[in-house]
Amino acid sequence: MGLSVEFAQQFSPYIAIMIHRNIRKAVIPVAGYGTRFLPASKAQPKEMFLVVDKPTIQYVVEEAVAAGIQDILMIISKGKRAIEEHFDPNRELEAELEHAGRTLELEEIRRISSMANIHYVWQRELNGLGDAVSYAKHHVGDEAFALLLGDTIVESNTPVTRQLIDIHQRYGESVVAFEQVALDKVSRYGIMKGRLIEDGLYHIEDLVEKPAPESAPSNLAIAGRYLLTPDIFPSLENIPQGKNNEIQLTDALRMLLQQKPIYGLHFEGDRYDIGNKLDFLKTNVIFGLRHAELGAEFRQFLRLLSDTGPDE
Ligand code: G1P
Repeated sequence: MGLSVEFAQQFSPYIAIMIHRNIRKAVIPVAGYGTRFLPASKAQPKEMFLVVDKPTIQYVVEEAVAAGIQDILMIISKGKRAIEEHFDPNRELEAELEHAGRTLELEEIRRISSMANIHYVWQRELNGLGDAVSYAKHHVGDEAFALLLGDTIVESNTPVTRQLIDIHQRYGESVVAFEQVALDKVSRYGIMKGRLIEDGLYHIEDLVEKPAPESAPSNLAIAGRYLLTPDIFPSLENIPQGKNNEIQLTDALRMLLQQKPIYGLHFEGDRYDIGNKLDFLKTNVIFGLRHAELGAEFRQFLRLLSDTGPDE
């Protein structure tokens, strides 16, 4: 039986705060064109590209679920139907697998369609990440929510989204995940200027979207995971177009900083950037080597390849 907020308030103010700050919803924007992946992304969503044997979007949804979230809103656009089909039940396929006695596959495809309640909203025009997030306003209402970008997979002991929730539950404000990147890569990311307040946790002082290395305030990069309070929505409505003539989430966070503290977490875990072709390939090799069924043989293959080179 769950505790009511009223009961908890009498019982312990601390429990009441935890219930109020419980995070139930996640938002995953998947509406972009995927231009960095052309031609592969012309007719299929880049979020459905495989990392070994699972589409990348499944890793992201699994992270949200592992963090305790089951209500997921995806911001979609034209050409993204395959994502909906991936998470919707496919009764004919299930019957087929059942008939053939393929229990493991049957369990897996049932798990995919039952692990979360996934909702979809259409972004009418592709005006950037900030614009995409603004479409979540109605669905999230007055609750804080997790935001996970689909071009990042994070492996960690505690899901990075859960790490952000834990900080939010302590401080009650928005929290952004950061990682250190090489200085020549800062122009790909939102970059933070911040003051360290405890181990791994920063009080953010400024944010800048994709700065040139010489003007970057640090090499701490926004890592595609956020825990946002609904205060972000008025900021999103009020910012002008920014970098690349798009509505930038980083600019909205920068505006929000003028009213409220925002925390930056240098999270525990390894981030795999799958938003460009080279890092996508590297991620596939790393995950391939670790794969329970395929890893050993794949390792042998790569050894052989590095000794002899590919056939010409
Ligand atoms: C977006 C954000 C950027 C962040 C990055 C992380 O950029 O605008 O601040 O660092 O995601 O992946 P995009 O990759 O969409 O250009």
